[in-house]
Parts: sequence; structure tokens; C-alpha cells
Amino acid sequence: MSSIKVNIIDVNDEEHTITTSVNTELSLMDVVKNAGFSMGNCGGMALCASCHCYISNSHNTILNQKTDEEEDMLDQLHNSNLEKSRLICQIPLSEELNGVTLKIIKN
Ligand code: FES
Repeated sequence: MSSIKVNIIDVNDEEHTITTSVNTELSLMDVVKNAGFSMGNCGGMALCASCHCYISNSHNTILNQKTDEEEDMLDQLHNSNLEKSRLICQIPLSEELNGVTLKIIKN
């Protein structure tokens, strides 16, 4: 199983990098939560927005993979940004994510 690096900017604007193996049964939210960041209140059902992040522009394809349920939840957030926002519980781990930068957004 290959591994990827994920860069995280927390709510205090501090940067962290985690390395994780690519387990396709896990979401990006799972690994960020397991690294100690507070999120995942709805268990990854796109219902709580506790995992709302802005994704770096270098990963545009990831930004274009939202389901209707995710779009509906993002539409309800005051700080949602169509060009950057994702609920990262809806992003399965993949090698494509290597080097992604996530900014965790307080809702
Ligand atoms: S964990 Fe609830 S929306 Fe992602």
C-alpha cells in the first residue's frame, strides 16, 4: 500500500503534515480526525459540516467531485467557497491526494 502526504492548516493557521497509507476504505476526514483534529460529528454522512475544509488549488479535480448531498450542505454554510470548499468526509483516500493542502474551516 503506498503512502501520501497531507498538509493541514488548522483553525489557528498552524501548519501540520501527516503521512498516511492509502486505505481506500477510509476518507480524508478519517485520517485527519485520527491525527487529532476535531471533526466527524456525523460520522461522515455529509450532515454536520464539521469536516469543512478549503482545498488547495493544485487539486482542482478533487473540487469537482461533489455529490448533490454535499453541495446541499455546503450551500447552507456562510463561509462556503465554491472554488475551494469540500466536506472531506466525502473524499475517499487515493494517491491523487498526495501533497494536498487542507485548511480546516470553523463553522
Ligand atoms: S463528518 Fe459530518 S459532514 Fe463530514
